[in-house]
Amino acid sequence: MKILVINGPNMDMLGKRNPALYGDMTLKQLSKKVSDFAKKKGVKTVFFQSACEGKIVRMINRFPCDGILLNAAAYSHTSIAIRDAIECCGKKVVEVHLSDVTAREDFRKVRMFDGVVAACFYGKGLNSYLEGIDFLATEVGA
Ligand code: DQA
Repeated sequence: MKILVINGPNMDMLGKRNPALYGDMTLKQLSKKVSDFAKKKGVKTVFFQSACEGKIVRMINRFPCDGILLNAAAYSHTSIAIRDAIECCGKKVVEVHLSDVTAREDFRKVRMFDGVVAACFYGKGLNSYLEGIDFLATEVGA
């Protein structure tokens, strides 16, 4: 089983970016932890990060995989294009966020992917990603 892990804009700044909110791990360190966790479940992970909405849409639609773990970052609150891609890609997509988007600014409470993602895990830092992997391994791998 292969899961594509997509991180959106500014996620490459983890480690430097507002550590009080997002922790002090870099994206590379976080990805290694996600990959190690997935491996123990017999799941292969492939990582993609981009600030470009169109590139994220293309990966969702075209990348051959069994499921997608998606932190579209700010696009999670704005992108109809990514919502449409999730809806038509034919794969199970799980949304994740490091921070608790429900307890921040009002614009972050907009969940543009609500209704098209299989689940959403947020507010638990790295554990949001691990819970997402766990969910996909159970839902898709079963
Ligand atoms: C984020 C939350 C978003 O609101 C924000 O724009 C991000 C990161 C998170 O992981 O907590 O870039 O997706």
